[in-house]
Amino acid sequence: MIKYYLGLLKDIQRIETFREAISKSVRSGDVVLDLGAGLGTFSFFAAKAGAGKVYGIDKKDIVEMAKELCKINNLQEKVIFYKGYSDKINLPEKVDLIITEMLWSLFISKTTMNSIKGAKEKFLKENGRIMPESVKIYLAPVSNQKVYNDVVSVNEYGIDFTPARKMMINNFHQKLFKKEDLLSEPKIVREINLMNINSDELPIDWRGSFRSLYSGIIHGLAGWMDLKLADDIILSNSPSSKPTVWENIFLPIDKPFNVSEGDTIDVALKTIPFEGDYEWNWDIVLQEKGESRSHSTFKGFPVSKDFFRKKSLDFIPDISPEGEIIKTILELFNGKRKVRDIAEEIQKRFPHQFKDIKDALGRVERVIERYSK
Ligand SMILES: C[S@@+](CC[C@H](N)C(=O)[O-])C[C@H]1O[C@@H](n2cnc3c(N)ncnc32)[C@H](O)[C@@H]1O
Repeated sequence: MIKYYLGLLKDIQRIETFREAISKSVRSGDVVLDLGAGLGTFSFFAAKAGAGKVYGIDKKDIVEMAKELCKINNLQEKVIFYKGYSDKINLPEKVDLIITEMLWSLFISKTTMNSIKGAKEKFLKENGRIMPESVKIYLAPVSNQKVYNDVVSVNEYGIDFTPARKMMINNFHQKLFKKEDLLSEPKIVREINLMNINSDELPIDWRGSFRSLYSGIIHGLAGWMDLKLADDIILSNSPSSKPTVWENIFLPIDKPFNVSEGDTIDVALKTIPFEGDYEWNWDIVLQEKGESRSHSTFKGFPVSKDFFRKKSLDFIPDISPEGEIIKTILELFNGKRKVRDIAEEIQKRFPHQFKDIKDALGRVERVIERYSK
């Protein structure tokens, strides 16, 4: 876990841009919430920038390290960390500013949106601010044989892996592109103002045309975001900016095709809410050459008949053996029983699933972590 957070610290572009924006945006005496605080880096920046009080929330145990860092940096008077999901935490007061970096290369994840929207409603003062203020999502056709090969090549060892390759082509990938890889000027496909979000569903439904700047091969589409952190401070993971941990997203196409300078590349990008996140669909049409490609993440994972059966509105669910265990553990939570007693009871009731108490304890602890107060 610590490796992941130290890796984030090494992303100087991301950290320094946030630091600059925090020192510009935090007003003397502000109450600040660092949502998804991790090691607490942005909480500490906010305290040093003059905040009166800073609350850092993170759902992971990394909060314990943030608390230790807070102490050795003598910031415990100003900064308080809470461990838990933001929707479960109560703060002693409302805040003037929410700083949040719980992002992915394209900022569109439903869970992120849900957490930001929830935190805004629950913690932010009426005239409060959010950092980032807004996000612009960009798209451009790209040409890079090496990145493409990386995604689609499968070591075959004398075995035909064609269906697996087809799935790779129908997925998005995190890859790093350079400015020279862009075949056209990028276009904005979605703008999100975080102060105005009132739904956690922010689908993209964009159609547009790109003009090829030079002759080359289209391998797919690249996407990235510009985050407006403060006036004049933009943090971008664009191929023209310094690289960040987010890299870019890559939507590859099957059988790359040639374009000539000046060709028009028509693109449709649509994300559809699916399974708590989004299904991505991308179509590319090159009118001059009569070529078109159509892709969807729906074709990007193996699907069983059972999957479709359970999606039907007429499906009558029955509890699985695993569901029975979780239900029993939850029923045993009564505010009086100890973890040891719950584990003993579970092992007694499900002797075939758990060989001993230690075995049952693992499962009980996971349920406790998620569902106990
Ligand atoms: C990408 S990390 C960023 C950490 C830190 N802000 C930084 O930039 O170094 C995002 C953090 O958000 C936390 N997180 C995501 N959703 C959360 C939620 N709903 N409530 C609390 N923490 C959350 C994750 O556990 C993770 O530590």
